[in-house]
Amino acid sequence: MARTLAFLFILLAGPLVAQDKAFTLHAPAALIETGFLKHLLPRFSLKTGVRVNLVEADGDAHIGAEGTPIFAQGDMIWHLATGDGPHMDAFRDWLLSDVGARTIEAFAPDGTAVFSADVGTVIVRDQVTLSGDAALGEAVSLKQCGRCHVVNDTNRMNAIGSSPSFALMRTFPDWQTRFETFFLLKPHPAFTQVEDVTEPFAEHLPSPIAPIEVTVEQIEAITAYVGSIEPADLGDPIQLQ
Ligand code: HEC
Repeated sequence: MARTLAFLFILLAGPLVAQDKAFTLHAPAALIETGFLKHLLPRFSLKTGVRVNLVEADGDAHIGAEGTPIFAQGDMIWHLATGDGPHMDAFRDWLLSDVGARTIEAFAPDGTAVFSADVGTVIVRDQVTLSGDAALGEAVSLKQCGRCHVVNDTNRMNAIGSSPSFALMRTFPDWQTRFETFFLLKPHPAFTQVEDVTEPFAEHLPSPIAPIEVTVEQIEAITAYVGSIEPADLGDPIQLQ
């Protein structure tokens, strides 16, 4: 039955969908709340005739920690990850074009630009410099993350098995980006507050557990600490089969 309905729907909706130049985009609440996308998306649609529909989950495209770097907000780089499709390609190309860059930097609700199109220089600095205080990072990690993650041997018995250990995550090629943006990556947004960065939890969605409260400086410290730990030995690849 469900299949028949789905088939009918495709039959009915097919020609309309084909003409409709649109895709869905998911972006973290922290970005949406800046108002920036309300500035950006209509200008892109105006130029290209492609509509971008913001969705709360499972979009065709995602703005977040993964994909092509598209713009910077302070030290943080926002990325665009897309599926296949000409409209999403057009969006990425437009963001990276001169016109896109001017549009990004024209968003200045209080008179100063909030976002920069210059992602190149920031990325290089981000990937090379670990300026944070690793000793502070270890202490913050044990206190704030050690409830779930094995940070090191000292909290091995207190963490939750389903959360990956820091040493395991240190093996990811993009570990640094993931740690710098962990507060945007599930499951953390539901219980994490970053001072001056995240919005307070919505009143109807209070944190389900004792919240994590960190500063940008502490995130840098955590990242520096993770940079100092030995990546987990994943063993001979044959064992993975
Ligand atoms: C309440 C439990 C909990 C706490 C506290 C917590 N995490 Fe996590 N974290 C998780 C779980 C569960 C995952 C695995 C998510 C998955 O596999 O999709 C995860 C994944 C991650 C990842 C990888 C995310 C990705 O998508 O690549 C990073 C990085 C991370 N955590 C960093 C931290 C840091 C840093 C802290 C402390 C400041 C912290 N976490 C605190 C539960 C927690």
